[in-house]
Amino acid sequence: MGKKVLFQSENLAIINEDIFSTRAIPSQEIDLVITSPPYNVDIRYNSHNDGLTYEDYRRFSKRWMKRCYRWLRKDGRFCLNIPLDKNKGGQQSVGADLTTIAKECGFSYHTTIIWNEGNISRRTAWGSWASASAPYVIAPVELIVVLYKDSWKKTSGSRKSDITPGEFKDWTNGLWTFNGERKTRIGHPAPFPVELPLRCMKLFSFVGDLVLDPFMGSGSTLLAASQCNRRSVGIEIDFHYCNLAIRRIEEDLVRRNADPK
Ligand SMILES: C[S@@+](CC[C@H](N)C(=O)[O-])C[C@H]1O[C@@H](n2cnc3c(N)ncnc32)[C@H](O)[C@@H]1O
Repeated sequence: MGKKVLFQSENLAIINEDIFSTRAIPSQEIDLVITSPPYNVDIRYNSHNDGLTYEDYRRFSKRWMKRCYRWLRKDGRFCLNIPLDKNKGGQQSVGADLTTIAKECGFSYHTTIIWNEGNISRRTAWGSWASASAPYVIAPVELIVVLYKDSWKKTSGSRKSDITPGEFKDWTNGLWTFNGERKTRIGHPAPFPVELPLRCMKLFSFVGDLVLDPFMGSGSTLLAASQCNRRSVGIEIDFHYCNLAIRRIEEDLVRRNADPK
């Protein structure tokens, strides 16, 4: 791994670099990419402009997805957490558009999980109230689009699964309902809950697999990986978010060591 590796242990690495310039990830070694990219909805990140034109956002998305495609193994998988659509700054079919871009990058489509995050605060933009003049319909859900590189059947890795029969039955139902994460609790403007990458890892990867989050943020994916014995690597452009991730992972380890189940 290159010199921008901020933290490294036997099973985990944090790379403080731009996804577009990093050379720290070798080609075809990643088993599973799980990520929530910037949504381009004007979130105030420390080191990223989240207010591109939609055309530039599509170009940005294509460039990073191409890199992920190269980094994945032939039987590698890609869980892409994105909005269904966007209303702020003009209506856009973000979910459909980014799925199309992923396919243009070479990915094959497998399925889409609907994550019902119960975010009712978004239901304040009604458009024309109680009138057919110009109403807005907003679904309080996000997508986890599941794609793969060459073959859906997974042949590499330990072949050891740790998902319970109950979890398998529940999570293969493509409607997942659990709460979103609070920004103020984590100290990052757009974290997802650890539950999201944890489910993706247990459902779509083997124990010991190598998981990448190219927009690591506060490190939720790496935290999940450490909890279910996957190896992981996170890329994050912002130094402070990297340090936040390191702190969260270390605190979680201390907590689990103090209270092993
Ligand atoms: C939606 S957040 C990810 C949040 C993460 N899932 C979590 O739970 O904390 C997107 C992250 O991508 C980072 N980012 C934006 N542009 C980047 C780039 N070019 N290279 C690497 N990271 C970038 C931002 O700093 C932000 O932390």
